[in-house]
Amino acid sequence: MANPSIKPELLALQSLFSPLTLSKITLPLLEQQQIDLWLKRDDLLHPVVSGNKWRKLKYLLNDVLSIGADTVISMGGAYSNHLHALAFVGQRLGLKTIGLIRSEPGLELTPTLLDVQQWGMELRYVSRSEYRLLRQYRDWQSLPGIKPGQYWIPEGGAQSLALQGVAELAAEITIPYDLLCLPCGTATTLAGLVNAVPSQVSVLGFAALKNAGFLSDDVKAVLPEQRNNWQINLDYHFGGFAKTSAELMAFIDSFEQQTAIELDPVYTGKMMFAICDLIDKQQIKPGQRIIALHTGGLQGKRGFIL
Ligand SMILES: Cc1ncc(COP(=O)(O)O)c(C=O)c1O
Repeated sequence: MANPSIKPELLALQSLFSPLTLSKITLPLLEQQQIDLWLKRDDLLHPVVSGNKWRKLKYLLNDVLSIGADTVISMGGAYSNHLHALAFVGQRLGLKTIGLIRSEPGLELTPTLLDVQQWGMELRYVSRSEYRLLRQYRDWQSLPGIKPGQYWIPEGGAQSLALQGVAELAAEITIPYDLLCLPCGTATTLAGLVNAVPSQVSVLGFAALKNAGFLSDDVKAVLPEQRNNWQINLDYHFGGFAKTSAELMAFIDSFEQQTAIELDPVYTGKMMFAICDLIDKQQIKPGQRIIALHTGGLQGKRGFIL
């Protein structure tokens, strides 16, 4: 699909982002198994709009501006990286933002919600059951009760326009590689990459949630043509979305000490644990070059005591 012309406001914002880097990871395990592992540091893109957030929002926000909408409505949990990035960018672009927040019993304003409020996002609380129902609305006009001037972005930015921004990320990887690994929530980022990587590269996603077998169908539904270069591993959810274990936390701590690279327990920590475990079990074959995508999300770490 041809890229639509990008609005100058978005280009101006993008020009503030850091040049992109790949960090080589050196760990004894990698040396033993002769694996060349690099992290694509999208976490360093911008202090707030980091990781896959900008990738997914870029063309959606371009659509918002092209249509002339003045308000963006979206949904997320109390530590949502997506709402955090959306509120920040929305403010920079002069857009009003509304966040539909999954309400937990006794929910207090988390550091994430305090940030988004400070960036002008209006918070509206919805029950868990209402939240689940909201997931069915995908198109920008599909939210019941949406008003003229308003634009709906589904949970996590999972919409076909998001795939274009994600594809740009693949073009920035300038060294040859065999395997691209990434964490999956809605698997929108994975879908965008499957079409964009060189044909000899395999894409391996790690589901951050339990019982995520449905993700493969979601990916197939948005791919313009069927590809067999990808897979989603369901074995490293650690009990479910945002669930952790002492083993995972100890792994993250040790990884950070050895590499000086921060991981979050919800997405990138689980992915990196999984990669190391599969290498250790020799389910990832020696001699390969792996690129793992650091999808950012470090603000969400404020919900965990490390
Ligand atoms: C830090 C981080 N990594 C990975 C993901 C998963 O991305 P996707 O929903 O596109 O699979 C998210 C959620 O959007 C995220 O916030």
